[in-house]
Amino acid sequence: MPRVFVTQAIDPAGLAVLRDAGLDVAEHRGERPIGRGPLLAAVKGCAGVIPMPTDRIDDAVLATAGLRVVAHHAVGYDNIDLEAAKRRGVIVTNTPGVLTAATADLTLALMLAAARRLVEADQLMRAGAFAGWRPLLLRGLALDGARLGIVGLGRIGRAVARRAAAFGLQTVHCSRSDKPDAGIERVDLETLLATSDIVSLHCPLTAETRHLIDAAALARMKPGAILINTARGPVVDEAALVEALESGHIAAAGLDVFEDEPRAHPGLRALPQAVLAPHIGSATVAARRQMALKAARNMVAALAGDTPPDRIA
Ligand code: DGY
Repeated sequence: MPRVFVTQAIDPAGLAVLRDAGLDVAEHRGERPIGRGPLLAAVKGCAGVIPMPTDRIDDAVLATAGLRVVAHHAVGYDNIDLEAAKRRGVIVTNTPGVLTAATADLTLALMLAAARRLVEADQLMRAGAFAGWRPLLLRGLALDGARLGIVGLGRIGRAVARRAAAFGLQTVHCSRSDKPDAGIERVDLETLLATSDIVSLHCPLTAETRHLIDAAALARMKPGAILINTARGPVVDEAALVEALESGHIAAAGLDVFEDEPRAHPGLRALPQAVLAPHIGSATVAARRQMALKAARNMVAALAGDTPPDRIA
């Protein structure tokens, strides 16, 4: 019976698919992601592994004797060495589509929270410091009529644009893809940064996008603009963002991902105008169940010798 290792507790529906297919399933259980040594040890003897974005699936993991399939429990796969997988003949899959709505919803939640200063408002109430209604208390950015710049118009970027329209945001985008852009004006990155009231990142993490939003990019953004990142932490130079927030040049940020996860820059933690979330973009019951099901079905198909639906290598 082929053995599959799952590196975190996942929705039981996914485990049931694996077990119903006759696979021997082992899971890492624990509050923290599995460490490097335990991961290498656990994968030994396995035909498949279902990893999380917290696991580095590099050549050392992919070289494990007998490992045939990596069915990623995520859509972003910057943590997996696809070239090494191809070279070693290991099949890799991911979970596109099923977390689009959840991640787009969280993007809007961060946008609203940053624009309307919800962390500051919450802190004020908890401190018992609300002295009564005042016209100038905690004024924020009105979304209606503001300009939203989406960097990366993939599935999630488009879903954000659809939601943004309901709030009256005027959306532009910059994207490398040549797909039709759903009637959204396309501009270059310079223009997007210089003219957007809110910049929202939806690009994958690649060598090209690492620190795409660095000190120079932040300086080019409109004074008082807001930055939202639900993509990958290293797309933003976090130390530069802290400086831009401290100086007031960037009014607020909404961040679900961090450069050195799970750690957030201490400067960010000290700033109430930074709304921080622990990488929960896809964390709805429905999305996490669908991700588990997709990963499991990809695994079962690949181990049976069929082409898995979401093969990326
Ligand atoms: C992904 O799937 O890439 C997210 O970051 C985790 O849901």
